[in-house]
Amino acid sequence: MNFLRFTDLVAAGRAAGKRVFIRADMNVPLDANGRITEDTRIRASLPCIRLALDAGAAVMVTSHLGRPVEGEFRPEDSLAPVATRMSELLGRAVPLVADWVDGVAVAPGELVLLENCRLNKGEKKNDPVLARKLGALCDIFVHDGFGAAHRAEASTYGIAEYAPIACAGPLLSAEIDAIGRALADPKRPLVAIVAGSKVSTKLSILRSLAEKVDRLIVGGGIANTFMLASGLPIGKSLAEPGLVGEASAVIAAMRARGAAVPVPRDVVVAKAFAADAPATVKAAVDVEADDLILDVGPQTAAAFAAVLESAGTIVWNGPVGVFEFDAFAHGTETVARAIAKSPAFSIAGGGDTLAAIAKYGIEKDIGYISTGGGAFLEVLEGKTLPAFEILERRAADMKPT
Ligand code: 3PG
Repeated sequence: MNFLRFTDLVAAGRAAGKRVFIRADMNVPLDANGRITEDTRIRASLPCIRLALDAGAAVMVTSHLGRPVEGEFRPEDSLAPVATRMSELLGRAVPLVADWVDGVAVAPGELVLLENCRLNKGEKKNDPVLARKLGALCDIFVHDGFGAAHRAEASTYGIAEYAPIACAGPLLSAEIDAIGRALADPKRPLVAIVAGSKVSTKLSILRSLAEKVDRLIVGGGIANTFMLASGLPIGKSLAEPGLVGEASAVIAAMRARGAAVPVPRDVVVAKAFAADAPATVKAAVDVEADDLILDVGPQTAAAFAAVLESAGTIVWNGPVGVFEFDAFAHGTETVARAIAKSPAFSIAGGGDTLAAIAKYGIEKDIGYISTGGGAFLEVLEGKTLPAFEILERRAADMKPT
């Protein structure tokens, strides 16, 4: 992709003394007391901020937090906890500035955090008046919020149209580089794991990947629908019988390319969805009418592991079983450890996937862990995200400062 990178601007000395506006995604989970429970996105945003400060820029950073009502400030929508965490991590004060749309006082070498950008009226709909004002705040706009790269809002898209220079920050660049490495020109075999409760929510991903991957491992309720499509019984397991035709089409598209969707040959079932429900391993053909499939069986898990260990590239989105319950976690743990052991370049994303990675402590063994939720899924669907579309367009007509 042809877009300008902030690292290149800095290396060319073009950020020194400039007003730099960084759109990060520091939309982190908070507990009931407003405390941050997981700070990956804040830590992932720091390299860009440090780069800008070290380059001698006047640095403004903003992010959204949640989905507040525009123009209606409530304390729980404030980025105050984010400012505190940033300050701890950076070892410097991080002033939080409210009502910043009409002007921000910040000098070269200084850093300010601009209050939740989704409080600005017109943000969500990318109002051109707001977007123009945002663009006027800076000399250089840096999009570094991959998690929000699928949103065409004033602070993620409109500002890039009006800022004198618009470029990608190091996190956004790293995400797209990793995704490109996994999907655009992958080392083969390319294996994707797509799991989740419903085929309907990931149908376009399954269709898109069916054209690219050599093996498509499906898990969770998605696998149950594929089992139905393969004529296997699934008892009372979660599935979408209305989408059996779509699942069959994905299997057929894969087969036509000499690729495959490995359907579970054994499963772990229970009579109830509960952590303490007795777990029984059985052949897929023996699933009874009152069984709930909650994991793949050991033979299937071993077969998946063998596929993953001999892969060239792995894309992972979703656990293959109810890994939150120990009795039904074996399949997901086996898959996770196989990915960790595999020499393949692996990329993983999505909330449940990150929770599984954390549970098995394999963070360091994954090639790239995406900070995107919806954005990661849209990339897997084969979509060009608005962030990249506008940054590519601006790269063509960028005015040097
Ligand atoms: C996310 O959490 O996936 C991103 O921060 C995007 O948030 P949104 O879905 O509210 O736009």
